[in-house]
Amino acid sequence: MLKWSPFFSTDQLLMSFDIHFEANHEMVSKNNKDFELMSYLITGAAGFIGFHLAKSLLDAGHSVIGIDNLNDYYSVELKMARLAVLRGYEHFEFGQVDIADEKQLDDFLDNKSFTKIVHLAAQAGVRYSLENPRAYIQSNLVGHLNMLEVARNKSGLQHMLYASSSSVYGGRTDLPFKETDRADTPISLYAATKKSDELISHTYAHLYAIPLTGLRFFTVYGPWGRPDMAYFSFTKKILAGEQIEVFNHGDMLRDFTYIDDIIAGMIAILDKGPVKQPNAPHKVYNIGNNNPESLEDFLTTLENELGRKAIRKNLPMQPGDVPATYADISSIKSDYGFEPKTELTEGLGSFAAWYRQYHKH
Ligand SMILES: NC(=O)c1ccc[n+]([C@@H]2O[C@H](COP(=O)([O-])OP(=O)(O)OC[C@H]3O[C@@H](n4cnc5c(N)ncnc54)[C@H](O)[C@@H]3O)[C@@H](O)[C@H]2O)c1
Repeated sequence: MLKWSPFFSTDQLLMSFDIHFEANHEMVSKNNKDFELMSYLITGAAGFIGFHLAKSLLDAGHSVIGIDNLNDYYSVELKMARLAVLRGYEHFEFGQVDIADEKQLDDFLDNKSFTKIVHLAAQAGVRYSLENPRAYIQSNLVGHLNMLEVARNKSGLQHMLYASSSSVYGGRTDLPFKETDRADTPISLYAATKKSDELISHTYAHLYAIPLTGLRFFTVYGPWGRPDMAYFSFTKKILAGEQIEVFNHGDMLRDFTYIDDIIAGMIAILDKGPVKQPNAPHKVYNIGNNNPESLEDFLTTLENELGRKAIRKNLPMQPGDVPATYADISSIKSDYGFEPKTELTEGLGSFAAWYRQYHKH
């Protein structure tokens, strides 16, 4: 059996799909368990969640093609450092590609072999959408459509997972948020693009029978995390003895979800595949911790883990921010056995240890 490699020559890559398909389904035995080696396309591979997912899949022996445009919304150095880890794996291939650029995307993917897509590239962040709305339309709408077109035209594609967000629930106050709740009153442009992605995905699944799964992530945190998120900037400022800005006077609830729990959930979905749906092969899941914490308690835990007190400046609520997020996870639990395990002290402890090591603090 031909073993797939990202280092095939163009001629080899032009061989029939059947051979690739056979190669991509090679069975291997690890720890006395048989499993299939697959090849994945991950967008946003230099990002926080994409990096962790790619690393887990590579650790399991799979092949990963990563795409990222390495934009400077936050530290490019951090994105490069994540990539440096991934480049250490033989079966990782990377392309600096903008998913909003149809030609660049198609040229890069031409003749690449993969059977599952995890589409995570996006312009993230709620507050930045007030400053730079066009970045959201480009990456999250044009880019999302381009990825659906990639999925539509890829013969043998088995499944595409894509990132949505808890922000689609807008300012709802009836907790916890369920996937069946109405989510048509977004209060930020970011949320509006994510909800639009779900709608467009549904149409593509319906029209072209593409198996699609959307994941509404709830405040993911952990090592190698995003510097634009509050827990990261709080850590930086607390360690530097600088004042931190606490919005809504700390009176906010967030369903903080540790990265390892998120990755375990995503891998369970990728392994099992899409769950059969009555109409279009599309389903959207909440993926959160199901245990919201107040920002106040979160800060205290972070202070304990860092061994330092924060200097606080209390401020009113920011436009676009929501007072609470809390995920009902019964659907992903019953379909995929998703069960978040990590307590805040453990998760923030791991983050703080990574932060100190990475920043040599
Ligand atoms: N981390 C969270 O708490 C959270 C919560 C809700 C939703 N999400 C969603 O999950 C996904 C991954 O989030 P993350 O936390 O890893 O964010 P991230 O910003 O760390 O990763 C996204 C990556 O996509 C890349 N990217 C952005 N626009 C691109 C484009 N046009 N072409 C190619 N690459 C592009 C960025 O350079 C970045 O490396 C995003 O879609 C995000 O909206 C994340």
